[in-house]
Amino acid sequence: MVLDGRSPEAVRETARVLAAGELAGVPTETVYGLAARADRDEAVAKIFSAKGRPSDHPLIVHVLDEQGARVFAQDLPPVAHRLIEAFWPGPLTLIVRRVPGIAAAAAGGQDSVGLRCPSHPVFRALMAECRALGVEGLAAPSANRFGRVSPTTAAHVASEFEPGLTVLDGGPCEVGIESTIVDVSRGGLVLLRPGVLTPAQLEAAAGMALHAPDAQAPRASGTLAAHYAPHATVRLMSTDALREALAGECPAGLAVYSRTSFAGTGAAPALQRAMPAHARAAARQLFAVLRELDAAGATEIWIEAPPQEAAWDGVRDRLSRAAAAFSPR
Ligand code: TXA
Ligand code: MG
Repeated sequence: MVLDGRSPEAVRETARVLAAGELAGVPTETVYGLAARADRDEAVAKIFSAKGRPSDHPLIVHVLDEQGARVFAQDLPPVAHRLIEAFWPGPLTLIVRRVPGIAAAAAGGQDSVGLRCPSHPVFRALMAECRALGVEGLAAPSANRFGRVSPTTAAHVASEFEPGLTVLDGGPCEVGIESTIVDVSRGGLVLLRPGVLTPAQLEAAAGMALHAPDAQAPRASGTLAAHYAPHATVRLMSTDALREALAGECPAGLAVYSRTSFAGTGAAPALQRAMPAHARAAARQLFAVLRELDAAGATEIWIEAPPQEAAWDGVRDRLSRAAAAFSPR
């Protein structure tokens, strides 16, 4: 059941559903989440079964503000505080040490917890209603089945789960790919998942260097090699390789998603989408385009690799995981 997020009554109803320990699909600026109250392990267990996700994969806990974060965080080190000042509310998740005894299921048994404070106005209104009902945190992974493409509209969420699921409609997501995740729980600043924030922005705000994860870093489903996969086979190709392939024999059901226009080069595939020239715009539409090409019956999607620039890290990461979901032909 999809509810209009502009209606205060719909927001209150969704908060009541969540406070009662049920699931709801909720809008954020990055992607839609499948939410449950983070302080009840039985509620969080419903997320894992609805998604078909292994229960040892930690979820992000969403809060209204730093005060909400302190309910779950054992301590917020100075670097966390600086990042919160710079990027909350917004698309940044911080991994911090968890208060023992709270949100254990949401944290997938880790002694840390991922905290994020979304900027979406409908989400913030919902979280304020949740606070009034005594709920300070919502555990929410992206509202898609495990391994599939993340949802950026309420319709995407409704299509993926039982019709009885309450979905709060906040319109299409502005950011379009999941939050940047940094771990500040172990002294340094470690990038676990790229998003739309660049390493340079993170380092400037944090006042320290950003590192890649080492072997001890917890496993993260959004960071598995194969993820974000549409039903069609995705091939990520350089501009030249794509031009060359298009000049040859093209499979039936081919779709092309590229910044470069290949009009007039060999056979014209029936399905073509132009990738925006700006990384932020490309991120915004990325998952919706993959879903749309699937729905249009594409069997293969050939995608022009994004530029090797930091601004494109998040988009490049999602595309390479979508392409890794199937072994190359
Ligand atoms: O933008 C987003 O972050 C979206 C929206 C709904 O907020 N949420 C999202 O959740 O992407 P999900 O569950 O698909 O990704 C959560 C990821 C996990 O895969 C894991 O990488 C990381 O967050 N994570 C969460 N808690 C962690 C922890 N304690 N230690 C390490 N990684 C953690
Ligand atoms: Mg996800």
